[in-house]
Amino acid sequence: MTKETKAARDLWGGHFASGPAPLMEKINASIGFDKRLWPQDVRGSKAHARMLAARGIISAADRDAILEGLAALEAELAAGSFVFDAQLEDIHLNIEARLTERIGEPGRRLHTGRSRNDQVATDFKLFVRDAMDRAVVLLKGLVAVLADRAEAEAATVMPGFTHLQAAQPVTFGHHLLAYGEMFMRDVSRFADARLRLNECPLGAAALAGTSFPIDRAETAAALGFARPAANSIDAVSDRDFALDYLASAAIAAVHLSRLAEELVLWSTPQFGFVRMAEAFTSGSSIMPQKRNPDAAELVRGKSGRIIGHLQALLVTLKGLPLAYSKDMQEDKEGVFDAVDTLELCLEASAAMLATLTVDPARMRAAAGIGYTTATDLADWLVRVKGAAFRDAHGSAARAVKAAEERACGLHELDAETLRAIDPRLEPAALLDVDASVASRTSLGGTAPDRVREAALALRARLGELEQ
Ligand code: ARG
Repeated sequence: MTKETKAARDLWGGHFASGPAPLMEKINASIGFDKRLWPQDVRGSKAHARMLAARGIISAADRDAILEGLAALEAELAAGSFVFDAQLEDIHLNIEARLTERIGEPGRRLHTGRSRNDQVATDFKLFVRDAMDRAVVLLKGLVAVLADRAEAEAATVMPGFTHLQAAQPVTFGHHLLAYGEMFMRDVSRFADARLRLNECPLGAAALAGTSFPIDRAETAAALGFARPAANSIDAVSDRDFALDYLASAAIAAVHLSRLAEELVLWSTPQFGFVRMAEAFTSGSSIMPQKRNPDAAELVRGKSGRIIGHLQALLVTLKGLPLAYSKDMQEDKEGVFDAVDTLELCLEASAAMLATLTVDPARMRAAAGIGYTTATDLADWLVRVKGAAFRDAHGSAARAVKAAEERACGLHELDAETLRAIDPRLEPAALLDVDASVASRTSLGGTAPDRVREAALALRARLGELEQ
């Protein structure tokens, strides 16, 4: 047995005669990825040691030795000089073994009244809680950019689509604010998930609780949790908080992906509505004219990973009997990758939007293509002539047909042609795209005044979130 294997064996006592197979070590070790949890692990151990001493379970001298030792380890970990050992499986055993190597006997008392099962659940919750907080900050930053750009583009007319067919003119500001609403819901999802997460597993021990007179309220408070988790079996087997993060992240990633898809589409020469900042595009080594929206494509593409991580953890958990099973060690890599990916995509999306150049002339020209004001014509017949909407719709459809036959726009139909279609029809019924959007003043509608109000309201909602 190597020295390290002996150290590992030593951690779970004497009833193993031989060391693990090399393949066992390979499949068993999580240190390669869970070393990322070292700040949370040190924090949890400090809180645990303080509580043990406060309750007279370890001596004040042991506590001080542990806290000093942990501080020294923290410095090594932060400096990158801490040597991780795969034979010590995970971050918890690595830190405990190194602590004991440094301070001796008191290090061996730290694990009193706890288990790696409640320890890992606590560490992971602390990590995910920070990730939720960061997601909220980044989402709010993105919404702020959207509110600013929407206000500036409140009167920029563009075609609105359904089925990706030109439907009715809208304003670019209004379209951007649609994404503002999505990302505000994402903020609320992460904030809500954080409330559910915020119960401390520490003290559940392996699964049944402990016979030591621990104070779970103290460790919960020290770690910023609202309360201790109520049931020890649930505390060590629950990964809902990770699922909540992944589900919220997956939905946010889908929103980001839809936005990215529109940026890709709008920046084609065929659409030409926007130009991505050069800094977020790439050229082609063979086609000199190309300007590819790579960053937007990657935001769209990376959503697949985040969605996949949610699926993977759901499947990992679905057949697990209570309480902890080693399968649960598979919870971390997907979450880590989802966190990194989401944060990158949120930052990149905000930066792309902030640096986007808009071509209002192209947008306005496109807004009229495809008889997008046909609804306005029908609405005019209802509003001005008292027609029933279904009849007005029929007249507008005939006007579109007449324009199609003449290969002209609706507004180019003369008074006589209009009268022949419906005796009530006059040229005044034909709104241009600006008049069309200006008329859509209903609450939540696309009229420029409404859009300006909505951008202000969105900023106010962001401000309320700060409180
Ligand atoms: N490395 C483990 C994990 O990530 C820590 C908990 C292990 N607990 C145990 N009883 N083997 O889940």
